[in-house]
Amino acid sequence: MLITFEGIDGAGKSTQITKLVRHITNQGVDVLSLREPGGTAAAEKIRTILLDNSHNISPIGELLLFSASRAELVQNVIMPALAEGKTVILDRFFDSTTAYQGYGRGIDLGLLQSIISLSTCGITPDITFYLDIEPEEALKRKFAKSSIPLEFEGEELDRMERSGIEFYRNVQKGYQEIIRMSPERIVSINALESIPLIHHKITEILMDHFPC
Ligand code: ADP
Ligand code: TYD
Repeated sequence: MLITFEGIDGAGKSTQITKLVRHITNQGVDVLSLREPGGTAAAEKIRTILLDNSHNISPIGELLLFSASRAELVQNVIMPALAEGKTVILDRFFDSTTAYQGYGRGIDLGLLQSIISLSTCGITPDITFYLDIEPEEALKRKFAKSSIPLEFEGEELDRMERSGIEFYRNVQKGYQEIIRMSPERIVSINALESIPLIHHKITEILMDHFPC
């Protein structure tokens, strides 16, 4: 089974994934938790290139790098794990490409679709949890523990996070459109709820959809 988490940076994905992995592992399920971009030695190097804020990368270059990282992860890790019957939990998958490179950067959605099919070998998640939050709130939350201001200029912000608030608003609109197109796969959850309540909702939804 493939479970993915989506949402803008700071929505709470990694927090929920950590709790879910613990929960499912305690039930004796064989779980593999991965993140995109990354997850193989080569894909982690691509991640470093993508997030390095000293790099000036074109939208198409960015799309191809995210897609190269995904192709590595899908073919070398995800497909073998699914074939062994493991449950794979993925922090971001192709919906991120549609939201960020499609709606955020403005790349043609038809072109994106072909590249997504190529990089995923046609794999689709069984279920996707979208953590819904306003960009301002998510970014405030993400940087709450640091001294980074919200002006998107700080040296410590990664290359994607320097894209500006307008970019993130477009990404959020993109996610809303993606959910409208795939209501059977994507469950939207209010990310402003407390961490334990969101976790409880996620485990209830998984039990409803996939009993046993
Ligand atoms: P993401 O993986 O989506 O970027 P994180 O899980 O890293 O987000 O969360 C970003 C920050 O927000 C962390 O400091 C985390 O502790 C905090 N956080 C996560 N979920 C919640 C929540 N539901 N309410 C308040 N703070 C949260
Ligand atoms: P990361 O730190 O993993 O994200 P988060 O803060 O949500 O934990 O950084 C990954 C960044 O890459 C994030 O800004 C989203 C972006 N991204 C894309 O633009 N396209 C993609 O296809 C993927 C997988 C990620």
